[in-house]
Amino acid sequence: MTTPPTTDLDEATALRHQLADQLATAGHIRTRAVDQALRTVPRHAFAPEVPVHTAYANDIVATRHSDDGRITSSISAPWLQADMLEAARIQPGHRVLEIGSGGYNAALIAELVGPTGHVTTLDIDPAVTDRATRFLAQTGYDRVHVVTADAEHLPTGIVPDGGFDAILVTVDTWDLPWIDALTEGGRLVAPLRLHQYHWAITFTKCDGALHSDEPLIVCGFVAMQGAGAWNANRRTIPGTGVHLSWEDGTPLPVDQLAPALTHEPVVAHTHVTVGGQEPFDALTLYLAGALPGFCRLAVDPDGHNGALNPPPKHWPGAAIVRGTSLARLATERISDGDDGNGLHEFVVHGYGAQGRLAAQEMAEQVRHWQRNHRGARCPHITARPAVGCAPAGTDHEPHVFAKKHARITVDWSIVPSGTRSCSAG
Ligand SMILES: C[S@@+](CC[C@H](N)C(=O)[O-])C[C@H]1O[C@@H](n2cnc3c(N)ncnc32)[C@H](O)[C@@H]1O
Repeated sequence: MTTPPTTDLDEATALRHQLADQLATAGHIRTRAVDQALRTVPRHAFAPEVPVHTAYANDIVATRHSDDGRITSSISAPWLQADMLEAARIQPGHRVLEIGSGGYNAALIAELVGPTGHVTTLDIDPAVTDRATRFLAQTGYDRVHVVTADAEHLPTGIVPDGGFDAILVTVDTWDLPWIDALTEGGRLVAPLRLHQYHWAITFTKCDGALHSDEPLIVCGFVAMQGAGAWNANRRTIPGTGVHLSWEDGTPLPVDQLAPALTHEPVVAHTHVTVGGQEPFDALTLYLAGALPGFCRLAVDPDGHNGALNPPPKHWPGAAIVRGTSLARLATERISDGDDGNGLHEFVVHGYGAQGRLAAQEMAEQVRHWQRNHRGARCPHITARPAVGCAPAGTDHEPHVFAKKHARITVDWSIVPSGTRSCSAG
C-alpha cells in the first residue's frame, strides 16, 4: 500500500488510531475486522483538500457542492461508516456493492472482503468516480471496481451470479430497487426515507423479501440524484406560509384549507408526555402509517400563518387533512422535568369545522402508540419487490408504504431492539 508522500505519516497514523479508539469506546466498532479496517485505511488520502486532523474528526468531510451550496457528495462520518459496516456483517470472500462512492468506504470494505472478495462502488457523478478511482489507486485499493451510473438501474453485468452478498447504500434513498441484486441470505443497509423520516435500516433477504433485524440508526445522508430522486410532493396552502408534504401516499387538495387557519385551534389532550431531549420520531412514523391523509407540515418562520404557531425548526410536524380541516401534532410544556430539559405533553391542534374530530382521531393514535408500542420503539420493517404486489391504490393501507420498486411494511407488533443515535453522512 502506498500513501501520498506529502503527508506527515506519523501524525495521520496517530490520529487514525485515536479515531478508532474513540469509535470502539462509543460502541460503533464492535468486531476486530472493522477495527482493523479503520486502523489500516488512510482516510486523509481520500480527503486531501482538508487538514489531516479534519479528515480524522468524527464527522463528514464535504467533497462536492451544488451551485446553490448543498452538499452533493461527502465522505460519511466515521461513526456511521463503522455502524453500517458492522451491520452489514461483511466476511472475507464476499461480493459487495456500495451505492454512493468516495473511495474511503470502498477501501474499508475491500479490507473486510480481503483478496478473495470483490467490491463494486457506484456513483452517478463522474467527478466523484474519477476522484475515487484516483485515490483508490494511490492507496493500493485498485481492485475496487468503480462504476459511473445512476443506481436506480444497475448496469447489466455488474451484478455477480447469484447476487451481491451485501449492499451498502450511502445516499438517502426513498425506494429500494436493489432487492433482486442481493443474494438470498445477503444483507442490505440503507438510509430509507419513510414520509420524511430517514433511518439507516439493516435487512436480511429471506424468501425474496428484506427483513429488518438490527436497531435502526437515525441518520442523514446527501440526497439521491437521478431517476430515483425523491419528490417531496409539497403543497402550499394558498395565501399562507404553511406547506404540506406527502413524500409517501397521495397528496390531498389543500386549496380550501386557508379559512381553517384563521381561527384558534381546538386542542385535544393526549396525557402522553415526552422529555425535552427525548426523540419521538418513532411516534411520528407510527402516525404516518396509522392515519390516512398523513402529511408533514412546515411553516415559513415569517409567513402569514394565521393561528398556526410554527413547529420546531428543521423538523416538519405530523399532520392530517380531513376535507377542509386539518389537525397537527404539537407539544405543550407542563414542567421543567426531572432533568431540567422540560417535560411536555403531546397535544393535537384541530383547525376547521372537522378540526375537533380530526384532532381526537390523531390524539387517540398517540395514546394507542403509548399503550402498545412506545416501549418497543423500533418496529420490524419488511420490503418486498413491488412487482407481483397488488398496485398501490388510493385507499390507505395501514403501515404500508408503496414505493415504485418496493412495498415497505412497518410492523409494530414485533418485539424490537431500539434505535441508535444520529448525525450525518
Ligand atoms: C455520502 S456520499 C458517499 C460516501 C461514500 N460512500 C464514502 O466513502 O463515504 C453519497 C454519494 O451518492 C451519490 N449519488 C447520489 N445519487 C446517486 C444515484 N442516483 N446513483 C448513484 N450515486 C448517487 C452522490 O454523487 C454522492 O457521491
